[in-house]
Amino acid sequence: MNKSSIRERINALREQINYHNRKYYVEDAPLISDYEYDQLTAKLKKLEKEYPELIVPESPTQRVGGEPAKEFKTVEHAVPMLSLDNTYSKEEIIDFDKRTRKGLDEDNIEYVVELKVDGLGVSLIYKNGLLIRGTTRGDGVRGEDVTGNLKTIRSVPLKININDVKLNLFEVRGEVYFNHLDFKKINLQREAVGEPLFANPRNAAAGSIRLLNPRITVLRPLKIFLYNLRSENNGLFNTHFEALKMLKTLGFRVNPNIALCKNLNEVFHQIDKWQEKRRSLNYDVDGLVVKVNAFSQQYVLGATSKHPRWAIAYKYPAEQTTTQVEDIMVQVGRTGSLTPVAKLKPVTLSGSTVARATLHNEDEIKRKDIRIGDMIAIEKGGEIIPKVLRVLFEKRSGNEKIFSMPKKCPVCSAGVYRPGGEAVLRCTGTACPAQLKERLQHFASRKAMDINHLGSQLIGQLVKKGMIKNFSDLYLLKQNDVAGLERMGGKSAKNLIEAINKSKKAGFNRLLFAFGIRHVGERAAYLLSNNFSSIKELKSASKEKIASIHEIGPKVCESIFYFFAEKKNVQVINKLEKLGVNMESILNKKQKNLLQGKQFVLTGTLTKYSRDEVKELIINAGGRVTSSVTKNTDYVLVGEKPGSKYEKAKTLNINIINEEAFEKISGLF
Ligand code: IVH
Repeated sequence: MNKSSIRERINALREQINYHNRKYYVEDAPLISDYEYDQLTAKLKKLEKEYPELIVPESPTQRVGGEPAKEFKTVEHAVPMLSLDNTYSKEEIIDFDKRTRKGLDEDNIEYVVELKVDGLGVSLIYKNGLLIRGTTRGDGVRGEDVTGNLKTIRSVPLKININDVKLNLFEVRGEVYFNHLDFKKINLQREAVGEPLFANPRNAAAGSIRLLNPRITVLRPLKIFLYNLRSENNGLFNTHFEALKMLKTLGFRVNPNIALCKNLNEVFHQIDKWQEKRRSLNYDVDGLVVKVNAFSQQYVLGATSKHPRWAIAYKYPAEQTTTQVEDIMVQVGRTGSLTPVAKLKPVTLSGSTVARATLHNEDEIKRKDIRIGDMIAIEKGGEIIPKVLRVLFEKRSGNEKIFSMPKKCPVCSAGVYRPGGEAVLRCTGTACPAQLKERLQHFASRKAMDINHLGSQLIGQLVKKGMIKNFSDLYLLKQNDVAGLERMGGKSAKNLIEAINKSKKAGFNRLLFAFGIRHVGERAAYLLSNNFSSIKELKSASKEKIASIHEIGPKVCESIFYFFAEKKNVQVINKLEKLGVNMESILNKKQKNLLQGKQFVLTGTLTKYSRDEVKELIINAGGRVTSSVTKNTDYVLVGEKPGSKYEKAKTLNINIINEEAFEKISGLF
């Protein structure tokens, strides 16, 4: 085959795949089996592998591409993404209609009523038929560029056929969401690996779209409904309803439940119709959106600084019911937070059985005066766990019991304390089983003890099998113990034990940071290691001595105090010391203060060190790393292909150094 016939073959396959993609993901009406679809994709992949020069970003094989972002760029929306004003009653809709009539000075107004899907608003921009950018709403003026993640959503077309329409540049807006089943699956997976659960599908969607690595987003089956089309050539259609039809024709996924209403009564009919029916949908709908249909009228009405005057949201009230508090239990979260939870007499609410309600913290219980045995009113919005509205005091019998938070952790019985200014009680035990996995992960992480090969999966197994009950048990592990674990061979067991042994040398500041003491981050750990010779000395230091250290605030001071006051923690430290874990600072005195107070900015690709290594070196020597160049910057460390920070440093006359110069000033060489 010659090159041009290969190109034709590839294009034909792409068109075929796009067509079936649309049938499956957008129209929910597949024409071929999954197997046949996979065969087509496999053929295309094979050809693209043979002829990589023919790969284009809009090819259906390229939905996940590129490197994970370090952070999202923010971009300004061409037209601000306004939010809708909310209403909760028909009276308010009547007011909206009156305002609209007055604003237009005419009576002939049609409304389009749509479902208000509870997800995350996004914008997609297409140029010459290709998706060129996707952003979040952000603050309405600027959003985050999440193109890579939006491309992973199968119902987002990468390429649109615009041959028949003059739409060279256009923007569509819509809502990204999870359906109920997928949301449940995600939370089950998260539970299995000990990750915190998403409170509702909206949070899950927002979290997934903001993941830095599209390879992880692609594992989350997000969906999208588009509800707005705007182009330079809006003359193509005169009404919102026509624009929605056009969106559908172009291959976008548009919610099928759209009503064109000739008058307010028809709008009310929609409100009544969806009141209950919305619960039969497999995604969250928290209300309806009422929009003036004619673009000419929308234009006349315009917008306030926050909301368009031509549209309004009608929100259904959250459903409420009453039940009895049978007991109040305390859960310990993976970060050591103690949360009181009401055990309820089971009731049906918004179509599901409710047996628990979160009480948040002890202040909330006091404020609402919730007692065991009380009858309460509860409400369920979009959240899985309902909230308590109020106590039905008139139903009290006098036998209700006042609840108080425990003095010890209900899981590990270590002391609990309430950090100043915070509402939540926390367990101080580093070996608390509720927190152990999370704590071990932090302990092993790169900036802490840097134990390579000790990932979350392995930690899960070690904790589950009871092989590790606290940090010090790590240093007792033998190669043979771990070799038998899942996904572990002799070689990886050996690597792991070596990495654990190596971490013994990490030293004071890393070890202190690794303990995961609340508020003690890298910088605080460094400052403390710079002012005390060893962890032992810090342990016996007075609160006053710790508080006198420059930059160490009362919160850090308090956390340190409670941490060392817990006997179980001291026992773990003693064991660690016995097992040969270094408790002292590894920096020499000279190095420690060498960069005291100096501010650094990094730009470009470094070759000798990673960015994290450089940051650590700077922090450990008393300096700081900031993200933008200002007149307070002392040094700009420049690598290959530096960015605009380099130019800025030149104009501000800041010291520009390369890696060799950095080694000299930081005392490395
Ligand atoms: S129209 C200026 N239509 O609800 C018009 N919004 O504040 C803006 N939403 O952030 C949006 N379904 O993310 C519109 N059919 C729908 C919608 C919808 C959900 C979201 C949107 C917006 C919020 C309203």
